[in-house]
Amino acid sequence: MAAPERDSRGVEAVITAKVVALRERIFARVNGEEGIPVPSERFDAAAFRELYASPAAHGRSEGAGLSDLFWYWLAPGPQVHQEHLEAGPRYDQAARTSRHVLAVPKPQIEELSRRCAARVLDELPRKEMTEVRLRDLMMPIWAEVYYELVFQESCPRHARNLIVANADDVVTSLKATGLRHMRTRDRLTDYLRRRIDDVPVELPELFTRDEKAWYLQGAFFNTAVVQMSEAMTHLLLAVAQHEKVQDRLVREPADDDYLDRVINEALRAFPLFGIAHRITTEDIRVSGTTVHSGSVLLFNYAAYQNSGFERPEQFDPDRWEHLSPKDTTFIPFGVTANRACPARGVAPVSMRAVAREVLRRFALASSVSHTRSIPHRGPCLLVDRKTETSLREPLARMRRRDRREDITRSLTQLVLGTYMVWDARRRRMCGNYFEGGA
Ligand code: HEM
Repeated sequence: MAAPERDSRGVEAVITAKVVALRERIFARVNGEEGIPVPSERFDAAAFRELYASPAAHGRSEGAGLSDLFWYWLAPGPQVHQEHLEAGPRYDQAARTSRHVLAVPKPQIEELSRRCAARVLDELPRKEMTEVRLRDLMMPIWAEVYYELVFQESCPRHARNLIVANADDVVTSLKATGLRHMRTRDRLTDYLRRRIDDVPVELPELFTRDEKAWYLQGAFFNTAVVQMSEAMTHLLLAVAQHEKVQDRLVREPADDDYLDRVINEALRAFPLFGIAHRITTEDIRVSGTTVHSGSVLLFNYAAYQNSGFERPEQFDPDRWEHLSPKDTTFIPFGVTANRACPARGVAPVSMRAVAREVLRRFALASSVSHTRSIPHRGPCLLVDRKTETSLREPLARMRRRDRREDITRSLTQLVLGTYMVWDARRRRMCGNYFEGGA
């Protein structure tokens, strides 16, 4: 059922690569070169860990031009998004609230995720074969899951629509396949502001009503929905393109260990974070050199997670049979000592439940390219397992279309990305906020 091997991508690939290279040059020009890449020749994988875990590498927003760009993409209210709050009492309160919301026993989050997945998948037309974009398929599932975790009630359809529209707008602009639409996002903020008193968990008391709404929007209806949808898109696309892996998952649906290995491998090969940045608050001495206070460290997840593995470019869940994640260069949820992901306990369990629910209903097949940024949102065929129809032609068509779209999408990303980088620099949301004495 899996796609045939990808052949050489010819002229489209050359054009796409040139456009990507041009985009990087223009971004660097408009945005300015900033930051120290890690790992690099100067800092190896061991130094990566040491630097990331250093107490002097905790700055999040103040002092980096790059932060203006992230604040622009994550607006409204990026100043209270947990990821971007600086250390202090406001951060502590936000982090505590997130921990409370996410402190769900594993069987409960598993059942909640399964139930929401079943509801959304049941809405699909009953056909022998349906083509979907996996990210679009996943978003309503996670909108329902996270609404229910926050509000402790099932998610009404209009709230689900608001959440999906918000999350989709954020991730589309982050990938520069579209511009940001603040009115779409503000509609969710208005809804959350009206519903603040219905949230059962104690929200940060140092926050105003607006800030409480923005905090919920940032952590649960943006980060959670986007990250879970992206993680599931990578997982399902990899399964769709690796026949033996899919066969084994279907043959042994109760084998948690194997499914966990597949999830680990998807998170290793396709880390959700490209680069996480930190601003140093003191000098750090590492690998015989000094990183000065006020430097911007750029932690490159893909480079780190590729180092230290044999044949890192291969998607090979079996590599985890004899490896323990904690003994390798594998940090899908960040570094415990430095603001790691608060969902690292619940995320893999709920991914397991949703993957099972999808595979129980459909065989998956896809012939598109699989890159870390998946700007195509994961085109995939969902096929009735009993069908006799050949997938050869639909997969060939999908591959041809993917190549064509790659070119137009790269050009779109070039134009829109350049505009947004310029607009973010012009607005200086982060710089102005801190200069205003906050
Ligand atoms: C498979 C899914 C996910 C992955 C792979 C993931 C990955 C990560 C990583 C690598 C970081 C650290 C980045 C850094 O060091 O700057 C992070 C931070 C964070 N994640 Fe996740 N995440 C996932 C899902 C979620 C979900 C479901 C939530 C729900 C609230 C969430 C909320 C956050 C928050 C709030 C932070 C910032 C933590 C802080 O600064 O205190 N993530 N995530």
